[in-house]
Amino acid sequence: MPRRPLDHPASMASAPVSPDRSHAGPAPLPSPDQPTPLLGNLTPSQFMRRYWQKKPLLIRQAIPQVAAPLSRDELFDLAGSDDVEARLITRFRNRWQLAHGPFSGDDLPTVRQRAWTLLVQGVDLHDDRARALLDRFRFVPDARLDDLMISYATDGGGVGPHFDSYDVFLLQVHGKRRWRIGAQRDLSLEEGVPLKVLRHFEPDEEWVLEPGDMLYLPPHIAHDGVAEGECMTCSIGFRAPSTGELTSQFLYHLAESGSGGATSAALYRDPGQPAVECPAELPHALVAKVGEMLAKVRWQERDIVSFLGAYLSEPKPSVFFEPPARPLNEARFAALAAKSGIRLDRRTLLLYDHRAYFVNGEENALSNARKWLPEFANKRSLSAKRFVTLSHDSSVTALLHEWYCAGWVQVGELA
Ligand code: SIN
Ligand code: CO
Repeated sequence: MPRRPLDHPASMASAPVSPDRSHAGPAPLPSPDQPTPLLGNLTPSQFMRRYWQKKPLLIRQAIPQVAAPLSRDELFDLAGSDDVEARLITRFRNRWQLAHGPFSGDDLPTVRQRAWTLLVQGVDLHDDRARALLDRFRFVPDARLDDLMISYATDGGGVGPHFDSYDVFLLQVHGKRRWRIGAQRDLSLEEGVPLKVLRHFEPDEEWVLEPGDMLYLPPHIAHDGVAEGECMTCSIGFRAPSTGELTSQFLYHLAESGSGGATSAALYRDPGQPAVECPAELPHALVAKVGEMLAKVRWQERDIVSFLGAYLSEPKPSVFFEPPARPLNEARFAALAAKSGIRLDRRTLLLYDHRAYFVNGEENALSNARKWLPEFANKRSLSAKRFVTLSHDSSVTALLHEWYCAGWVQVGELA
């Protein structure tokens, strides 16, 4: 993979980076009623009640002595992979420009050049340290969690004043960034610019964030973050599908699954159709009849659960699970898991309700798995001891071995 030339200023070269936790297990689950520095000593329950989707919150030293999950060079390397969404935003000579990755080392401006930003999306899918940072925010349901984006900027770099349609936690992990925010109503955008930049930005608050500081923003709060010197920011983003997307995806799911009468074999019939003079004209009777057919489509809550479970646990298109190079057979897998425990691969999405579970887009009945699967889905790991207890039921070992062979589960030491 291409590497950047070593022409960087000393500041970033010596920046702290999280130790490689590629063999470490997931972070412990945040407890809803425990005050945490991450939320300015509020409990997650208080934060959700007072701020979530409601108003911004600045948290000084949310993560004291924070370390960037990736070094600058690691981030630049990642931006060179084809399966990573990376964007380069420059504002040279007062002109915004946007380019899409992958970027080789030569595609990026030098780190001595001012006013550019590299945004790398979905870093949690590629790195366990980034995934561990995202896990700190699991006081919000997994169904809402989207990804961890890391931005790197040189002095004066930013993406311009804009708003997002989703909630975001902006955690400063290296250097300083000046944020200005405003709750303005006028969200009109500049024309002829390749980015969503607000035409009139009217900030009403301003702060300089230092490493460890974090800003929470609900959707549609205008914001602009400008690097003061070289800096890195992690954005923990949430997904908020639109009504249009949910409706079209749900109807597609209903038709595919054959429920709700959406795939009824009844054919369109028109025994009353008279001969016409204007064959190109859409018959009104056809419109009315199709309206009647559509009005018969019905669904129940379990169709919605099935749809949401499959839709929200579907891996992103860039995710390909790799089976282990030399998979252990079931007995060896069980022996190793009994020593080291197991954990979900960082990319695995596992959701459940009282009736079913959904793993990487596939639905299955919860039935006997109800004794252990919710625990595994919530903790994303099972200790060696817990695995030993559960493996007395051979169906548990068989299923987990299947997931291991698919690359969905890793055998490994826990943190
Ligand atoms: C950034 O990190 O540079 C931009 C993130 C955002 O404004 O959402
Ligand atoms: Co934003």
